[in-house]
Amino acid sequence: MATATKTFRNYIGGEWVDAAGGETFESHGPATGELIGTFPKSGPEDVDRAVEAAKAAFEEWRLVPAPKRGEIFYRFGQLLIDQKEDVAQLMTREMGKVIAEARGDVQEAVDISFYMAGEGRRLFGHTTPSELPDKFNMSVRMPIGVVGAITPWNFPIAIPSWKLVPALVCGNTAVFKPATDTPLLGERFVELLDEAGLPKGVVNIVHGGGGAVGDRLVRHPDVPVITLTGSRETGVAVLRAAADNLKHVHLELGGKNPIIVLDDADLDLAVDGIVWSAFGTSGQRCTAASRVIAQAGVYDELQSRLVAAAERLRLGPGWEDGVDVGPVINRAALDKIHSYTGVGRDEGAQLLTGGEIASGDGLGDGFFYRPTVFAEVEPDMRIAQEEIFGPTTALIRVVDLDEAIRVANGVRFGLSSSIFTRDVNKAFRAMRDLVAGITYVNAGTIGAEVHLPFGGTKETGNGHREAGQAALDVFTEWKSIYVDYSGKLQRAQIDTEGVNEP
Ligand code: UN1
Repeated sequence: MATATKTFRNYIGGEWVDAAGGETFESHGPATGELIGTFPKSGPEDVDRAVEAAKAAFEEWRLVPAPKRGEIFYRFGQLLIDQKEDVAQLMTREMGKVIAEARGDVQEAVDISFYMAGEGRRLFGHTTPSELPDKFNMSVRMPIGVVGAITPWNFPIAIPSWKLVPALVCGNTAVFKPATDTPLLGERFVELLDEAGLPKGVVNIVHGGGGAVGDRLVRHPDVPVITLTGSRETGVAVLRAAADNLKHVHLELGGKNPIIVLDDADLDLAVDGIVWSAFGTSGQRCTAASRVIAQAGVYDELQSRLVAAAERLRLGPGWEDGVDVGPVINRAALDKIHSYTGVGRDEGAQLLTGGEIASGDGLGDGFFYRPTVFAEVEPDMRIAQEEIFGPTTALIRVVDLDEAIRVANGVRFGLSSSIFTRDVNKAFRAMRDLVAGITYVNAGTIGAEVHLPFGGTKETGNGHREAGQAALDVFTEWKSIYVDYSGKLQRAQIDTEGVNEP
């Protein structure tokens, strides 16, 4: 395992290099504040060098047969399996999530690597008849060029893999800017890619902040594709900055994901689903269940069971046995989450449990927040509208399914959604009417699998999806090819005689 005080570098054109300006920043673990490592605080000059390397590498990489590109990712997936425990331990230290979830994060990267490695032998296009004789038509997926990947800290291995693996299998090269809260995991990720056999310059990592590194990447004229998972505000800024170059921009932004619990639901199951989705990863998932929309007949019972379950959760460092909820990522996050408790109180919602920064009992100086449940929340309150990204959920009472769906859809985001019911008719209505990229029936809002499209409607994104086949649309462009083997000039739409005359 990488040791605590090591100094790390950028990886550009196959070389490990310091930032041109020589500045550094530190990564600290959120559970204890331990120093994880020192990283280059890069600037525009470093981005420019990385883009230049990626641009040069593209000319060869795009010509490597896709099945051969794919093989590298079978090796990468296998390396992740071999290193799973090591990387997961690192993750629980640098990012804070509990060890079982950290292993899951790595597993998600294994899954997408194998899935996309296989894609190297597919990358299906279409063939279709021509309207003219002796002519052949097809469409093929083309790589685009240098992809700029800007990733968050909450899935520090899984999310880079969703972006970089398909981007590279499709024949693009990449410049990767990992979150400044999880640089060591970004670095491990690239080390393993390198070990899997990627040629120099195909993947490059530049550490540093959004202002200096991210912004330059987004504005760089030689980076035609930007993929970002982050906040809505960052997404809007990226879209604006990328507009001048008409870049392809893939955005995966916020959520305010509802779980609907109807009167006929299996309540034990619903409580399990809510607890896992609202408090797992300390609520720091885009898919976290931050609203629980309960029908009046089960509301009271659900509320008391949910509070009891939330209070049973054990907080602590993610590497300790029996810990359910780890720290949140940093001081600013802790303060933001706590400020929403104040907002909820001021709005007149009823705080049932939690609502405080947790300390004592072996929690040290870690950034721990008690799992928090608000009740009697009105759908238009800020705590029911805004993404908190912490272990806070809001109970909203409704009379029936129609109102539940109205409330569920009554937010600006549309990532994940869920309904607990035993009534198949109601389940199908929810599957049709919830305006979200993901709907679960009798399961919580988290746990997306990598071979299905992942992403959201409305202001969760800009219409794209990652993972699954949909990822290929982000990282390729269609080319339609017409091959005329008639030996004469045939003019489409004009030389129609005897061809497509009725
Ligand atoms: C995220 O929080 O951005 O479905 C990703 C899930 C995980 C991925 C979450 N597989 O919760």
